[in-house]
Parts: sequence; structure tokens; C-alpha cells
Amino acid sequence: MSTTFQLDTSTSRANPTPAPMKRLTVPEVRQRKVDGTTQMPIVMLTAYTARQAQLLDAHCDLLLVGDSLGQVIYGLASSVPVTLDMMIAHGAAVVRGSYHAAVIVDMPFGTYEASPEIAFASAARIMKETGCAGVKLEGGEAMAATVAFLIRRGIPVMGHVGLTPQAVNVLGGYNARGRSDAEAETILADARALDTAGAFAVVIEGVVEPIAIAITQAIACPAIGIGASAQCDGQVLVTDDMLGMFDRVPRFVKVYENIAETIGSAAARYAQDVRQRTFPGIEQTYQPRKI
Ligand code: KIV
Repeated sequence: MSTTFQLDTSTSRANPTPAPMKRLTVPEVRQRKVDGTTQMPIVMLTAYTARQAQLLDAHCDLLLVGDSLGQVIYGLASSVPVTLDMMIAHGAAVVRGSYHAAVIVDMPFGTYEASPEIAFASAARIMKETGCAGVKLEGGEAMAATVAFLIRRGIPVMGHVGLTPQAVNVLGGYNARGRSDAEAETILADARALDTAGAFAVVIEGVVEPIAIAITQAIACPAIGIGASAQCDGQVLVTDDMLGMFDRVPRFVKVYENIAETIGSAAARYAQDVRQRTFPGIEQTYQPRKI
């Protein structure tokens, strides 16, 4: 089954006609950073559904099918319980809904850490069953050999260091990382190891700004920040956070809209219409044809 976006001239709600545009490739994203400088910062947002992807696609270089979908879509307490099947279902939907951005799918906890071979089997399923452009995995030096193994076998990899949410049970929470010299050194070494292994970009999450800047300057591939620094080579946010879907958001999120309020207000007006029998009105009902 093809999962890539098809030009569809039907009137289906699921298939609006896309503006023709070539999809960005991973090498093009990597080449944004030349000799340590990125003229055009890389724009990345998370997407979990086809419709969300359609709306974000034209504005983004990368769409990340993040395992944050565990909390955002499924109401889980963390990303730890997220499965490969969940990531593949949402990854395929996002690929179907986009035609410009390169789509990257997170490898969920427990599907890549044990060995490079296990990681390859999981990543190959993600690539084959979603049509995505690459995968993202968490961890630094400990994952470098796996990253190199995947890349040598045709799977582009984005790294993720600093606050790595899949390690929440080891870290003990979601606090910013890199406050001590030792921790800062470890995160810098992690980012360097991923860069040397061939990662095409590295997400730096929740680290104190001077460390984020030092990493950005130290690695050859683009550093994509979240709770990091505007000096990173690009930025990523969880889309539902920046749209104001949740009451509680991390300090590093800038909330651009209040969609939760819009949805609540629409639902309240609909409920009132139903209870007052003012919906459906004449415009929304089918009447017998007059002969
Ligand atoms: O899962 C996710 O959404 C992520 C981003 C926050 C980087 O990993």
C-alpha cells in the first residue's frame, strides 16, 4: 500500500488538492548548516494526524511524529508506554497529509536500545510502513554505534540529547539539564558522538542556554532546540503546546493561540443549540423535493 500523498481530485475531506511542491530531503536539511553556520533556521513542529500535517506542512521544513503523542493524543502519563504500532499508524497518516516537509518518526522506548540489529528491524518497519524520511532516537554516546549502524544501512537518523523524556524514570522528572559542569560535559559529549556517528541533526531539549550554544557551535550537523536557545540551527515545539491545547505547558513553550478555549466555546454553543432545539436548522436538514 502506498502511503505517500496522492494527488486526488475528488471532493473527499481527507484529500484536499495539494499545491505542487517538492518534498524536502534529509540531505537538503543537513546542508542548511555549512561550515558551522545556518543562514535559514530549520523549522520543525510535531504532527500526529493527516489533517494536522496538511495544515502545518507548508510552514515547516520537518514534521516530527513525536512519541509525545503518548501524552498529547493518548493521555498517557509519559512516552514510555508508546508502541511501534502507534508510531507507525500516526507516521503513515502524517506522510499522507504532507507533501513538502520531510517527515521524521520517533523510535519509541524499548524498540532500539538493546542492539543495533533490533534498532534496524524497528527502524526498517517505520521506514517501510510509513514512507517517512528518517527516524529520531534518544540518547548520546550509548547510541552512537547504533546510529552509525542504521545510517550505513540506509536509515537517516536524528539524535536527541539533554532532557530525554524516554529516560524520565532515570532522570526523575523533566527538569532542565546541564546545570552542573559534569552534566554539561556529558551532554556535549553525547551531541558530539551523534554528530560523529553521522546523525543528520540533533535535537537539544531542556538544557541551560550556554550549553545549547556550545553544542550548536561544536557539532557540524544542525542542532534543533527545544527549551535550548534561539542560537540553535532550528527550533521544534509540540504543536498542541504552542496552539494552547493544554492548561499546563513547560516554560520554554511560546503559546501562539488558545485553541482549547475555541473548542470549549464551540462545544458549549453546540450543546446549547441542541438543548434548545435550534440545531439542526433548515439549512442543515434535507427537505422533500418540490414537484
Ligand atoms: O516526542 C516529541 O515530540 C519530541 C520533541 C519534543 C522533540 O521528541
